[in-house]
Amino acid sequence: MSRYWSAKVRELTPYIPGEQPKREGLIKLNTNENPYGPSPRALEAMEKQAGAGLSLYPDSECLELKEAIGAYYGQPASRVFVGNGSDEVLAHAFQALLQQVRPILCPDISYSFYPVYCRLYDVDCIRIPLEDNLEIRLQAYARENGGILFANPNAPTGRCLDLHQIDSLLQGNRDSVVIVDEAYIDFGGESAVELIDRYDNLLIVQTLSKSRALAGLRVGFAIGREELVEGLERVKNSFNSYPLDKFAIAGGAAAMADRQYFETTRRKIMATRERLSTELGLRGFEVLPSLANFVFARNTHHEAAALSQALRRKNILVRHFRQPRIEQYLRISVGTDDQCRLLLQALDEIVG
Ligand SMILES: Cc1ncc(COP(=O)(O)O)c(C=O)c1O
Repeated sequence: MSRYWSAKVRELTPYIPGEQPKREGLIKLNTNENPYGPSPRALEAMEKQAGAGLSLYPDSECLELKEAIGAYYGQPASRVFVGNGSDEVLAHAFQALLQQVRPILCPDISYSFYPVYCRLYDVDCIRIPLEDNLEIRLQAYARENGGILFANPNAPTGRCLDLHQIDSLLQGNRDSVVIVDEAYIDFGGESAVELIDRYDNLLIVQTLSKSRALAGLRVGFAIGREELVEGLERVKNSFNSYPLDKFAIAGGAAAMADRQYFETTRRKIMATRERLSTELGLRGFEVLPSLANFVFARNTHHEAAALSQALRRKNILVRHFRQPRIEQYLRISVGTDDQCRLLLQALDEIVG
């Protein structure tokens, strides 16, 4: 605390990201990274950027990247907004679209950055409790609001709403923005991007950190009608004209274009997730049905905090949230088959 801090800074509670250990040799299943690494075509595209061209600023419009994202989704580049990770895209969406007179609606259990942005941008939020089985309770969102925001699949539960459910939510909510954070949609869910043609109040946010294995590059994007994107651009251009560097623009565009690599790796992750869920079930875990690259599971005989610490002593990191309703769950990212085998082996030693 410093007497020079503004009143705003004094009252913030910053987000605490999952641990990124400095030590080598850990099995890192705590931050939902992709174990297969980025597309070789993305790496090649980035290598080409390392040269004298770096003395010039990047394209502030990031057109090459917007076109690649638009091409993937059959949408014009004018409907695409890009940012330095989807965290930044979400932050701009809070300022551009969610700072309204009425409170926004969010699930009580969801991505823990949302309440942080609420405080930063003075956005009131009504937190709608998940169902007992930790599904999003959609009918509870049929009330006046300044906007609706949720992750689909939700984090950290992994549960996913289908397109029909999102469509009916939108039908009943025509006067405020609905933001669907699809950070994990490529692991089995159905993206709601196609609904953008029908709803001018829908904004989809996605990231290249998970299914495209580029968490270290920091690329996120939003897709929505031009007027929503223009709102985001106005905030971005009042904050930082060049949030994406030349590596991010070229690497991100090449990753979006490499559909074959994307398909192969995401399918491997989904197959491993199913095997991991079954094996955890055999070891006394209750595993929520997940359409993400992680599973959310609790063991009825062992405390989650103790399990997480015991795994850590065996050099395996998983994520545990000290939060009401979910404190007995562990969120375990889906690693390679080998990493998951070592996790199960460690669990056998701990709980067996
Ligand atoms: C639901 C959700 N949204 C957004 C993000 C942010 O992703 P990034 O900033 O890496 O694009 C994450 C990161 O884990 C997440 O879980």
